[in-house]
Amino acid sequence: MIFVGNWKAYIESPQKAKALFASAKRLAGRKGVRIILAPSAPHVGLLAPGNRSKVSFALQDISNSTGGAETGEVTAAAAFGIGARYVILGHSERRARGESDQIIFSKVQHTLAHGMTPVLCIGERERDSDAQYLQFIRAQLAAVFSGLTPQERIKIIVAYEPIWAIGLHASDAIAPGDLAEMILYIRKVLGDYMSSNQILYGGSVEPGNVRMLAAGSGVDGFLIGHASVDVQNFTALVKAVS
Ligand code: 13P
Repeated sequence: MIFVGNWKAYIESPQKAKALFASAKRLAGRKGVRIILAPSAPHVGLLAPGNRSKVSFALQDISNSTGGAETGEVTAAAAFGIGARYVILGHSERRARGESDQIIFSKVQHTLAHGMTPVLCIGERERDSDAQYLQFIRAQLAAVFSGLTPQERIKIIVAYEPIWAIGLHASDAIAPGDLAEMILYIRKVLGDYMSSNQILYGGSVEPGNVRMLAAGSGVDGFLIGHASVDVQNFTALVKAVS
């Protein structure tokens, strides 16, 4: 199982960041567990250099520029240079700030060009009774997959994060049956691109619901927000399914 801890902007103290990393290292020794931490960019710079543990690091986003006169941008090359090996892209909290499918596609290309793995987030804002949301998901995948080569496609980790389930409580997460259905649908769409990818679920994953969400849903792991920034919660969550 893959566990990606998206720390968002919750962690601002270097001490807290170090404590979370220390506990993640202990968990990463467990059989069948792959832990990827996505701290803020400065904290990736703090924790990743010289890291020889089984924990990997992700940036929460990167620039779609290639460097130069671009104040405030963090390029893929800079991310790779400090030890990031994954990049979360297209998170709904970035899309909400105006990030288009086109920009996300270009960030995916930069990420791949620098030998890192994109964790591509997709997810509908709401579920309508006509199942329009399925077309929405298909379009989000098409915007990235249609422009890539088969060799590039296969490298992407897809994270299904329905916006309506993000940042709430275990009881607000998707129902396991609905998750299983969606994972099947995503696999079918990816199949149209001759691709078979690892798929994660994100949205109110907590120690109390992770086992239920893992059982029979077909997910390869989880993208975890608020429960990943608390040592006890994250530990309990990983242990519940490993
Ligand atoms: P929560 O786990 O806080 O719902 O966040 C999910 C998420 O957005 C992870 O990227």
